[in-house]
Amino acid sequence: MTDQPAKRVDLETIVSLSKRRGFVFQSSEIYGGTGSVWDYGPLGVELKRNVKDAWWRSNVWQRDDMVGLDAAILMHPQVWVASGHAEGFTDPLVECRNCNSRFRADHLEGDECSTCGAKGSFTEPRTFNLMFKTFMGPVEESANQVWLRPETAQGIFVNFENVVTATRRKLPFGIAQVGKAFRNEITPGNFVFRTREFEQMEIEYFVKPGTDEEHHEQWLNARLQWYKDLGMNPDRLRLRRHDPDELAHYAKDTWDIEYEFPWGWGELEGIANRADFDLKQHQEHSGRDLTYYDQEEDKHYLPYVIEPSGGVDRASLAFLMDAYTEETVTTASGAEETRVVIKFHPTLAPIKVAILPLSRNAKLTPKAKEVHELVRRRWATQYDDTQSIGRRYRRQDEIGTPLCVTVDFETVEQDNAVTIRDRDSMTQVRVPISELVATLAERLEA
Ligand code: GAP
Repeated sequence: MTDQPAKRVDLETIVSLSKRRGFVFQSSEIYGGTGSVWDYGPLGVELKRNVKDAWWRSNVWQRDDMVGLDAAILMHPQVWVASGHAEGFTDPLVECRNCNSRFRADHLEGDECSTCGAKGSFTEPRTFNLMFKTFMGPVEESANQVWLRPETAQGIFVNFENVVTATRRKLPFGIAQVGKAFRNEITPGNFVFRTREFEQMEIEYFVKPGTDEEHHEQWLNARLQWYKDLGMNPDRLRLRRHDPDELAHYAKDTWDIEYEFPWGWGELEGIANRADFDLKQHQEHSGRDLTYYDQEEDKHYLPYVIEPSGGVDRASLAFLMDAYTEETVTTASGAEETRVVIKFHPTLAPIKVAILPLSRNAKLTPKAKEVHELVRRRWATQYDDTQSIGRRYRRQDEIGTPLCVTVDFETVEQDNAVTIRDRDSMTQVRVPISELVATLAERLEA
């Protein structure tokens, strides 16, 4: 294997691999596809689950000051009036008078339409609300109109009082939620980076006013570290503070965690100080007292909120692109070939272990199946006995499987042991089947 400078994978390679190997498919493809909506295939769904599970473990299970929530997507329409989204969740939209393509006015470079080439053909910008509308119940009238949530956050704010009462939490504490959100983006694109239906991983962390800046800084560090701990290249990660004119209507201060995608730096997660904007708004609009009673100080106040808000789809895409590697290897016959290997952190790898009998054979198959049963109780596995063992290793490398377990004739005839092959170093060790699960656990869960 030769060491080469890390070459950036381009988006086309990732889109093509995603389809070929079953990470991501275009939604409703047999009908020509739905604009900027994507479906996750057999490997993509495992990757996304692993990203969400890793986030939940780190932010809920492993902290004393966090609890979880799963609020509904459909909410009372007043929620979006109170939150400011009904009025202010808009982008400036322009349309080309020549070809009717629509663009975000703030994303335009010059006055030439990038679809048809017409110059000076844009309409004046008008505000366009990004929320999807639908109707609750059988009558389509404005009284029954509801929105699909554009952020999961509001489900947390409207449940603040419920959670405090049910859990007797004291400040500071946070509520975590993972769920779908919808935005009718004017210019979606870059694969699953900007889509119209996506998943968010959000935390609303409630603190005493005055301590918000210190907690904001702690969350910036904790969240950045999470991406690094899961193997993302630190050189492709940065924190960027929003300029005052960029801040969302609710934010006092916001920092983005950005990743350097092939098309430039892009936001993975926004970490905002929302102060008491949301609780105050909901208190006013609902008429409910949403203040927190601070026993030590014997006073009621509205907590401030720090909000780390990440995208599951963006994180999954960044982990996939970051882990994609091409290496030149020399085969047994001396020829050079390219090995595609996705060096996922074991926690994120869609398939953790592949069970590969040396060949499809009446002697080997029963033993290999027995080994497979042992391993699949604990991890996502694949069993593969087609083609040469070398090709099967390559197939597993290309989907990022950290470990392959090979069952050969020695296993059944001599030592009841198997070979574990490591994806990254390609080294092999032999272990007795009785020690297999413990050895795999050491490698996968260290
Ligand atoms: N509650 C705050 C909030 O929603 P945001 O910065 O608009 O903040 C948070 O969104 C995260 O959700 C982003 O950092 C991004 O990862 C993800 N996200 C937002 N819009 C998206 C879209 N159209 N497609 C995919 N992910 C998106």
